[in-house]
Amino acid sequence: MITLKPLCKQLRWLVLLAAPLAGAGPLPELIPLPQTVEARPGVFTLAPQTRIVVSAGTRDTGRYLAAQLTPATGYHFKVKTTPGDPMPAGTIFLSINTNLPGVGAEGYDLSVTPEAVTLQGADAAGVFYGVQTLLQLLPPEIYATNTAAGVAWQAPCVHISDQPRFKWRGLMLDVSRHFYTKPEVERLLDLMAQQKLNTFHWHLVDDQGWRIEIKKYPRLTEVGAWRAGVGFKLDPASTTAYGKDGRYGGFYTQQDIKEVVAYAQSRHITIVPEIEMPGHCIAALAAYPEYSCSGGPYSIDATGGVFHGAYCAGNEATFTFLAGVLDEVMDLFPGQYIHIGGDEVRKDAWRNCEKCQERMRVEGLKDERQLQSYFIRRIEKIVDAHGHNLIGWSEIREGGLAPSAAVMDWIGGAVEAATNGHYVVMSPTKYGYFDHYQSTNHTTEPHAIGGYLPLSQVYAFEPIPAKLPPQFDAQILGGQANLWTEYVPNFRHVQYMVFPRICALSEALWSPKDARDWTSFQQRLPAELARLDEEGVNYRKGFSE
Ligand code: ACM
Ligand code: ZN
Repeated sequence: MITLKPLCKQLRWLVLLAAPLAGAGPLPELIPLPQTVEARPGVFTLAPQTRIVVSAGTRDTGRYLAAQLTPATGYHFKVKTTPGDPMPAGTIFLSINTNLPGVGAEGYDLSVTPEAVTLQGADAAGVFYGVQTLLQLLPPEIYATNTAAGVAWQAPCVHISDQPRFKWRGLMLDVSRHFYTKPEVERLLDLMAQQKLNTFHWHLVDDQGWRIEIKKYPRLTEVGAWRAGVGFKLDPASTTAYGKDGRYGGFYTQQDIKEVVAYAQSRHITIVPEIEMPGHCIAALAAYPEYSCSGGPYSIDATGGVFHGAYCAGNEATFTFLAGVLDEVMDLFPGQYIHIGGDEVRKDAWRNCEKCQERMRVEGLKDERQLQSYFIRRIEKIVDAHGHNLIGWSEIREGGLAPSAAVMDWIGGAVEAATNGHYVVMSPTKYGYFDHYQSTNHTTEPHAIGGYLPLSQVYAFEPIPAKLPPQFDAQILGGQANLWTEYVPNFRHVQYMVFPRICALSEALWSPKDARDWTSFQQRLPAELARLDEEGVNYRKGFSE
């Protein structure tokens, strides 16, 4: 499905893009499309003596750039703070300039001439995104992991002024239904950064596995991180995530988490950890059944069924336990938001629990929906007291939304939350569920959970809800796609579900709304796929749907 834009807006953009100076080549094939691109005559050529000259705040990105350029070119670029005298031809200058006209946070101004590349970021992130654009200007072989012989390492001369449309540009990965190793998660962060995404939502906990070490509650990973087999009727050979005893699973130690957080920071990605509550918590209840209403026992089952467990909202010990868990989580993740889930809570256990019913009487709560709201408000206080903010799925609005909470809209509620002053992140099933099929022909696709989300539909994702009065637009922080992984048993398969749909997501979240054009995107996509081929990414081919 393609949203048609008013023709006048489209024409204005085309004029801006299609006005190259005499002698300039075609416009470069960039994804996401920058705010403005002006092609100029000539090329810049990378050579062994090319220097990367950094100034305050750009050294890390200078080193990142050198590290990206070295494998394919075989050149070892020097990263210096002064250009040297005489200045060698072909210098790349990186700097921060907080006064760039028309360029805000995370934006940059990139000028490529035959003599030099001059990249100014509005901040350190802006320089990093300018580097991503510079890499795309070079031949796709620049992404090769081994030396690529016989390539002219030329970038067309160009002036680009760019900034993102949204500040939350995210991807969620569910590591509970299937486990991916730390290097695999870091690889995903690399690939996200290339798409100029800046938020990794790490779904660390669910019914089928608890994946983060909590020192105060060791059984969460001793028991909660393991199950009998791969589950979901999948081939046991489709994964290598087995423990020494043959059980399926795995978890990240706190040291692993610290390293992943640092890795993400060096790529200007914030990690939002998700600790699901009050439902989707069977893995935790298998370890600590005393925090359920029934007292258990629970065991981790991965048949794909619906689960009826929830933390007991009437038991004070539940809140002590969750505060202990969250304290450790919040010490590990420096980002503003802590995601506490809140979706799909089955209330039957609460209805049949004396403690929960007593809580409702004492607190004057008229139904279990209000008990859910009570639960979320108590957790909100814990999160706020730590200087973070709580975010949860659409259902955290049930029974009344906690005052400072942000909503992640997957099944509605964005307009109501935003007009009441809450921040909202859009991840609607219709545009952002990467667990859905990429084709209607299921015989040619790996088994998926259902649904249909072709590339064209991701491209049509508009994060600002049509019904939102425009004065509340700023409450919409941005959007993200979610990869639930019931039927995604290994990291090659993660890549297949994510690519190339993430390229369409990237443009939906970064590029100016009026500039988005499905035909133009399709024309630019083969160049992006060539880059993905060079770096060995497994993506779905036959992308025209
Ligand atoms: C969800 O997809 N249950 C948030
Ligand atoms: Zn209870």
